Amino acid sequence: MKVVALSSSPRRDGNSWALAQAAGKGVREAGHELDFVHLTDYVDRPLGDCRQCRLSNGSCSVDDGYERLLLDHVLPADAIIYATPLHWYGMTGRLKDFFDRLFCYTSASSPHAEVANAGLMHKRAAVLISCEESYRGATLGLEAQFQELTRYLRQDLVGIVVGVGNSRGEVERDPARPLEAAADLGRRLFDIKVTDYRLDTERSNRVWSPAPPDETY
Ligand SMILES: Cc1cc2nc3c(=O)[nH]c(=O)nc-3n(C[C@H](O)[C@H](O)[C@H](O)COP(=O)(O)O)c2cc1C
Repeated sequence: MKVVALSSSPRRDGNSWALAQAAGKGVREAGHELDFVHLTDYVDRPLGDCRQCRLSNGSCSVDDGYERLLLDHVLPADAIIYATPLHWYGMTGRLKDFFDRLFCYTSASSPHAEVANAGLMHKRAAVLISCEESYRGATLGLEAQFQELTRYLRQDLVGIVVGVGNSRGEVERDPARPLEAAADLGRRLFDIKVTDYRLDTERSNRVWSPAPPDETY
């Protein structure tokens, strides 16, 4: 399987990068292919007013590396790892620009719409967040945002790892061991069970396969 890791911090070797590296190690250990991308290499501009900047054939005219990022790295992947530091209790501006500008490729007027819509859906998604503050509420809004946007994109959100640290690389000293958790998430990216039931969803009363007889209680 192909996995793309989108690292979105302006600090190229910071804490969220360390989390992404750890997850990437797990991805490779599980035998998958990893494509590691710094958004700073591709995304320079925010979403514009499409009426002003859309070309006559419906293409986006914003001429940074966004189109290459989307068509060559994101759409071909089977899973996406989103890595971000917490900035003002949200994702980085660049990662938000990445999501905002999907609009220019998924809207019906884009010549890429069919490919972009099909290519964005039915992927596995994992989220890595580094932040200075450790209280649970600091990342709750961002976690909820990822839950909603992956639901909208029909991506399966398999896990979120939060690592606490501020100075560069300090996340490795977080006693909760987020680097290990990120590696585990990467390793099990395609195996983690994701369920989202409704009242009428047909299902067994067991979540996991039955244990062998001597382990049953
Ligand atoms: C612009 C900016 C805003 C930040 N906002 C928050 C915040 O709201 N809450 C928090 O816990 N840390 C905040 N931080 C600290 C970073 O999330 C923290 O240092 C993180 O580990 C940086 O990850 P990085 O090394 O990958 O950039 C902020 C840092 C910056 C530069």
